[in-house]
Amino acid sequence: MLAHRLMQIKKTIGRDESVADIGTDHGRLLIALAKTAGNNHPKLIGTDISTGPLKYAADNLRKFNLQNKIILRVGNGLEPLLPGEVDTVVLSGLGGYTVVDILQRELRKTKSFGKFLLQPHQDIIVLRKWLLEKGFSIVAEDMVLDKGKYYFLIVMKPVPSTEEFTPLEIELGPLLLRKKHPDMEKFLTEKIERLLIISQNISRHSKRPLEREEVDRRINEYGEVLQWLRS
Ligand SMILES: C[S@@+](CC[C@H](N)C(=O)[O-])C[C@H]1O[C@@H](n2cnc3c(N)ncnc32)[C@H](O)[C@@H]1O
Repeated sequence: MLAHRLMQIKKTIGRDESVADIGTDHGRLLIALAKTAGNNHPKLIGTDISTGPLKYAADNLRKFNLQNKIILRVGNGLEPLLPGEVDTVVLSGLGGYTVVDILQRELRKTKSFGKFLLQPHQDIIVLRKWLLEKGFSIVAEDMVLDKGKYYFLIVMKPVPSTEEFTPLEIELGPLLLRKKHPDMEKFLTEKIERLLIISQNISRHSKRPLEREEVDRRINEYGEVLQWLRS
């Protein structure tokens, strides 16, 4: 069965949308898309920087007899794709810094695609900051809890945006906050609980008043957001 986080990505993709999955590894997202694809057989491309994962993907495609429905290519980031070759580019399971690196390497090519689905496994804030600095549009956001870890999905269109967000919105996800995402309350409560432990440890063991002040400031800030979410 498809992992929750990959299911979340799949749900945002239409049956006739052509898709490239960068860093496809096992190829599971593309396999799920191919199984439910529309009659016009949209182009589905899986790429990876290494041949090992692509061999794994190829074995998986054979298991489902989908080797003629999904194209596999080796290469770094967007390199294996032609400009605008697919409607949607997926980058999931890579770190935020790697995603930024891939998007900024050839900005003209990045801008040739209609839509990106970005779900880094870490450093989401780095990615949000970079997207907003570049003036790219975050058109939707979602979050999901998968095996005890929160994953954040950004739907990005590489077209200019005039929206401005506060540092706190960039940290937590501006559109997640705007729609009061149902998982945000639990996410923030857990964050506050971890910070309370840190705050207690600092006051017990050290003379680091500035550090404690910063931790307490964040606890208050998240607390205010929590109150607003509940209002
Ligand atoms: C952890 S797996 C994620 C697999 C899948 N996308 C997912 O979300 O489950 C990361 C994959 O990205 C590949 N990768 C890492 N850097 C890459 C890059 N710059 N370009 C293409 N693939 C890359 C790795 O080889 C690995 O197979």
